[in-house]
Amino acid sequence: MASNINSYDFTGKKAIVRVDFNVPLKEGKITDDTRIRGALPTLKLILEKGGSLIIMSHMGKPKGKVKPELSLSQIVDAVSEKLGVPVQFAPDCQAADEQAAALKPGEVLLLENLRYYPEEEGKPVGIEKDDPAYEAAKKEMKARQKDFAKKLASYADCWVMDAFGTAHRKHASTAVIADYFTPENRMLGLLMEKEVKAVDNVLNNIQRPFVAIMGGSKVSSKIGIIENLLGKVDKLILCGGMTYTFAKAHGGEIGTSIVEMDKLDVALNVEKLAKENGVELFLAPDAVTTDGLDFATMTVKPGSRIEVHDALNIPAGLEGVDAGPKAQELFANAIKGCKTILWNGPAGVFECDDFCAGSRAIGNAIAEATAEGAFSLIGGGDSVACCTKFGLTDKVSYISTGGGALLEAIEGKELPGVAAALA
Ligand code: 3PG
Repeated sequence: MASNINSYDFTGKKAIVRVDFNVPLKEGKITDDTRIRGALPTLKLILEKGGSLIIMSHMGKPKGKVKPELSLSQIVDAVSEKLGVPVQFAPDCQAADEQAAALKPGEVLLLENLRYYPEEEGKPVGIEKDDPAYEAAKKEMKARQKDFAKKLASYADCWVMDAFGTAHRKHASTAVIADYFTPENRMLGLLMEKEVKAVDNVLNNIQRPFVAIMGGSKVSSKIGIIENLLGKVDKLILCGGMTYTFAKAHGGEIGTSIVEMDKLDVALNVEKLAKENGVELFLAPDAVTTDGLDFATMTVKPGSRIEVHDALNIPAGLEGVDAGPKAQELFANAIKGCKTILWNGPAGVFECDDFCAGSRAIGNAIAEATAEGAFSLIGGGDSVACCTKFGLTDKVSYISTGGGALLEAIEGKELPGVAAALA
């Protein structure tokens, strides 16, 4: 059985810890350090317990190539400052033997971006799936992936999986590496434990009423999670760009709003399933619209129209960009009094100050319900950014570091990173 990080004896041991330090950078500076802060409790605990750290992560999608703009060397100083100890850097994650061997208790080594090697992801490079040689190339890459993982494992006495954001990937460092440690020398980190518990709260330990708020532009990208939630929630609020696919499916006029014309039946089926499951479904009755949103600057061009219209009757030339005032009130009332709340995806183009009122109304209602004892889980980059923008990060129960990983977990899928660490 896998170990528990709290009871594991790290004294004199080297721990290789998979974290998700895939943080956004602008001109080499970190613009959101949530993920680094999220991993600190695990890293500090291991150091306090007399261990040394080999930290590994990916950054971006270099697809097996060395890309200096995705080098983890850019975050060494930030990690060092937050951990409160100097952090050494290994410029090649597959050639860190000497640096790892020399680590003494309390010392820290950060490996370069794992995805500089295609073996991390384990997908064959430069060959398409329909190529007759693909299967052989895949097999060969899987063998190379094992060697890659074995090398990483050779640096340490134990493996700690704390990269929730990447736990839905079956990569060398997130899952395959588990094979090179005995069960008692592999474990989940503290962040993973918190994330898994938060997901469990909304999947298996539900206090009712349970409301899920799903936003974002496309119903197609959320359909898996929506279908899974329909069997669990009491109320479902669907907002954001997908509003207009629902409006169109009902024969509405939606102007130039975003729509998935090939998903109208999917939208209607969601409504049918909601009815069958006894779930109260909330869609925006009105929308804030404009003809002048500049997506590059997230501002409204001077002289443009900003008007509120019925969501089923948006005039030609106008685009729905936020939930209207009636929708804001409807959503806030639906959230009020709920005891379990899940929010993924904004209600509008929240990055533009003129169109963030819908997301703000949702965020505020969640904060109020949380203050009254609800458990609220916020996930996905945009909803997390909304909480930051509206000053709500301390007023919700849990902000997940996972995007895709959280969605897959809530869809009910097993996360390979969790399964491997617990096996
Ligand atoms: C994320 O940003 O969601 C995680 O770091 C995973 O990244 P990926 O989608 O490139 O695997």
